[in-house]
Amino acid sequence: MKKNLASLELSKEAMKAYGDHVVDAIIEHYHTQNSKLPVAKGSREEMDSLFLEEAPEKGSDPLDVLHFVLEKVMTNSTDMSHPKSYSFVPGPSNYISVMADALATGFNIFSGGWVASPAAAELEIITIQWLLKIFGFPQKKGGGIFTSGGSMANLTALTTARRIKCGQDFSKAVIYLSDQAHSSNIKAIRVLGFKKEQIRIIPTDLEFKFAINKLKNCIAKDKLEGLLPFCLIATSGTTNTGTIDPLSELGAICKKEDIWFHIDGAYGAAAILASKGKQLLKGIEKADSLTVDPHKWFFQPYEMGCLLIRNHKHLSHTFTEKPEYLRDIEGNTSEINFYDHGIQLTRRFRALKFYMSLKTYGLKEFRKAITYNIDLAEEVETILRGSKHWQVVFPATLAIINFRYNPIEKKHSKKELDAINQYISEKVVSSRKALLVTTVLHGKTVLRMCLINPRTTLDDVKETLALCEAFAKDRD
Ligand SMILES: Cc1ncc(COP(=O)(O)O)c(C=O)c1O
Repeated sequence: MKKNLASLELSKEAMKAYGDHVVDAIIEHYHTQNSKLPVAKGSREEMDSLFLEEAPEKGSDPLDVLHFVLEKVMTNSTDMSHPKSYSFVPGPSNYISVMADALATGFNIFSGGWVASPAAAELEIITIQWLLKIFGFPQKKGGGIFTSGGSMANLTALTTARRIKCGQDFSKAVIYLSDQAHSSNIKAIRVLGFKKEQIRIIPTDLEFKFAINKLKNCIAKDKLEGLLPFCLIATSGTTNTGTIDPLSELGAICKKEDIWFHIDGAYGAAAILASKGKQLLKGIEKADSLTVDPHKWFFQPYEMGCLLIRNHKHLSHTFTEKPEYLRDIEGNTSEINFYDHGIQLTRRFRALKFYMSLKTYGLKEFRKAITYNIDLAEEVETILRGSKHWQVVFPATLAIINFRYNPIEKKHSKKELDAINQYISEKVVSSRKALLVTTVLHGKTVLRMCLINPRTTLDDVKETLALCEAFAKDRD
């Protein structure tokens, strides 16, 4: 017999040394990140000069490769879990889940079918049950699935909604979402093959909430034209401002009109764990499907999204396929094959990190962290309102605050203010001391701070505001 000369293995000692280095590097990162600069910058040319080469025919010493990666790759990547990374949606993460991911990958557990990994499937069922309870969904009938992120959860939801409400023919189907809905929803609608004429983007009111009257008018008109209103996407925590759509009212409209009610809670749904958030999120339990994104405000490392669904049968009805090569691992109905509940067949074991971090810290610590985040944003709002230089453009909502430099002692045109605030953001980012980018609200360029990192302190924010003021004065 021919001997396999390939060597994709390391000795036990070499594995241990390698693993120790990796874990040490992660621990060091956790304990030194606050004193480092969060923002990475690099042009394509600079990155090419570091990394561009042909695929090497001959290997290298493992530790040499590891050190090269730690020095050149990690340092050239923005740290989204840094306390001064305020932009987009930060990824605060947590160490237990990082290690859980290492275990899931280390054992390379296939989380597709029950027979392959009963414990992995069971942990997904259990953790989804925890989430169903948190969000007030029916526990017996309800279900869900972990996905790579919020975008995939939204796509999974809309695919299901269309299948259940339209069957095979969706030529007359119409879908409703607000002008503040996240772009991943539009992407999902496009992936599903809807035409532009089938999408209704409803304007929002001054608080960026779905304008209910305009929505009702639109639905009525569509019905009169013989179209089929089949799905409405509400947002519980818009990406721009943290605004929550009027969920109870929207739920009632969907019920009356027999429209699938999807809530995109990728950003804000986790706020239900704080008492202020719970108040604001009333009505979330009325959704037919709800996107939650544990790699955001449930402090999980990337990639972990989640779709919860009122009736779990709707997922299997939408995604089940029965090819002959999977017939031996079908199992029975209570033993869920998650490949029948979503798009992916081969899936990593995402539930493990959620399970281990919740078991280790307890929900109580998550509640505390989220409450802290919401309160911190409110304190920042108070500071901004007490300053002669800053204007709060949209109040702290679910830990997001939008503001801009607009000194009372000097009058500026709108154009000048837009330019100054853009300048502040560019200077802050190029200083690498904080990640703080702009967004546009009612046509105004504003600075947007998303404060979901429990390691961010009020002093961090004050230092960042002082930096912004210094740049503003340079320019003004
Ligand atoms: C409201 C909302 N929905 C969906 C998404 C997309 O989620 P992901 O980036 O996990 O795909 C985001 C991301 O910021 C979001 O804020």
